[in-house]
Amino acid sequence: MAQAVLRTQVGIVGAGPAGLLLSHLLAREGVASVVVESRSRRHVEERIRAGVLEQQTVDLLDEAGIGARLRREGLVHHGIKLRFSGRTARIDFAALTPGRAVTVYGQHEVVKDLIAARLAAGGTIVFDAEATSVHGFDGDAPTITFSDGTQTRRIECDFIAGCDGFHGISRPSIDAGVLRIYERTYPFAWLGILAQAPPSSEELIYALHDDGFALLSMRSPQITRLYLQCAPDEDLGKWSDARIWDALHTRLEDTSGPRLNEGAILQKSVTPMRSFVAEPMRQGRLFLAGDAAHIVPPTGAKGMNLAVADIRLLACALVHWYASNDASALENYSDACLRRVWKAQRFSWWMTSLLHRFDADSAFDRRRQLAELDYIAGSRAAQTALAENYVGLPLDA
Ligand code: FAD
Ligand code: DHB
Repeated sequence: MAQAVLRTQVGIVGAGPAGLLLSHLLAREGVASVVVESRSRRHVEERIRAGVLEQQTVDLLDEAGIGARLRREGLVHHGIKLRFSGRTARIDFAALTPGRAVTVYGQHEVVKDLIAARLAAGGTIVFDAEATSVHGFDGDAPTITFSDGTQTRRIECDFIAGCDGFHGISRPSIDAGVLRIYERTYPFAWLGILAQAPPSSEELIYALHDDGFALLSMRSPQITRLYLQCAPDEDLGKWSDARIWDALHTRLEDTSGPRLNEGAILQKSVTPMRSFVAEPMRQGRLFLAGDAAHIVPPTGAKGMNLAVADIRLLACALVHWYASNDASALENYSDACLRRVWKAQRFSWWMTSLLHRFDADSAFDRRRQLAELDYIAGSRAAQTALAENYVGLPLDA
């Protein structure tokens, strides 16, 4: 097979939010990049994932010139609800973290906005192109080899950004013994649906129920996003639409609130739950960012926000290197990211532990969870701790 060579400054593996945002931020500062993505443009633009953007994620996208549609169509939320034992506690972000909020705007919409901006600026994103190996990053001439289906091609670059998610090739390409892995898996998963139905609550509802966790979220005034705790190896075939709605009514409704609106189910999927960190987030000239380096369980909505925070640092460090040939920010990249990553790990683990059914036999744990929710409902200090983590800790925290 013929081999064509592309030359660029930063070779980026993966066109998820991390890879696309890096390419966009670098281009704004005059640094060239090429992004290779194994899936099609349509696939990445339609992949339903995250929905909650922290304040500083929104601010960064705005400052980077890609916030116009997000500002127009995103739903700003000033609180969330916790439902347990037939009660509802509201966490009031506006009162507890003055001036801060989250915005509900689908990750795939962020991806669409970033792809449109890169292509309009003449950027190169090669879709349907699977990176098969990354090489040479321990020296100063790294390369990415990828296949576009017809031929094998190579990117020669100064740096590689491994933004290829948890199942990508970048992290496994790091030499044995360099990474230390910290991991926890959970004995459950989330069954997620997207439904053509107006959300029955203006705010997200996180519910602890004897049958398991449930979450009501949304994508627009017409589309509800809902999740149910399920088994990690859950067979979606066993979940008819009627069974899903029954479970959602049982877990999410209380006697006083409105009934959940039903509608056509547009999409169903099962998401495994894992906490994972690879340290350091780098070997030589290969830098890992986003899900390639760390995974949080989705309770608390931190994954994509962490990817954006990594990229903010990586883009600055690379731009600084090109401007002044000073590698200090690149040297500091992994440590700076990990401080934030571990705080988000802690929060996501805590929210997950608080709201899921772990062990049907553990009456002690259930009582402890209910006591903690009751404490949160009555304590401004506990509500503040939840709220400041949920809206996002300051970038340097
Ligand atoms: P990805 O989005 O995984 O992107 C990696 C890209 O690399 C993919 O496009 C993949 O196709 C590509 N790729 C992989 N291997 C290769 C290869 N060999 N060659 C070329 N390309 C490759 N986070 C939040 O912040 N808020 C939320 O509300 C939230 N909710 C979530 C709900 C669900 C159901 C799920 C599944 C996740 C949720 N997350 C949430 C997490 C969030 O979606 C991820 O953290 C985010 O996608 C990470 O972005 P990324 O760019 O690092 O990785
Ligand atoms: C959504 C996902 C989350 O993980 C979460 O905690 C809140 C909302 C969502 O997809 O809308």
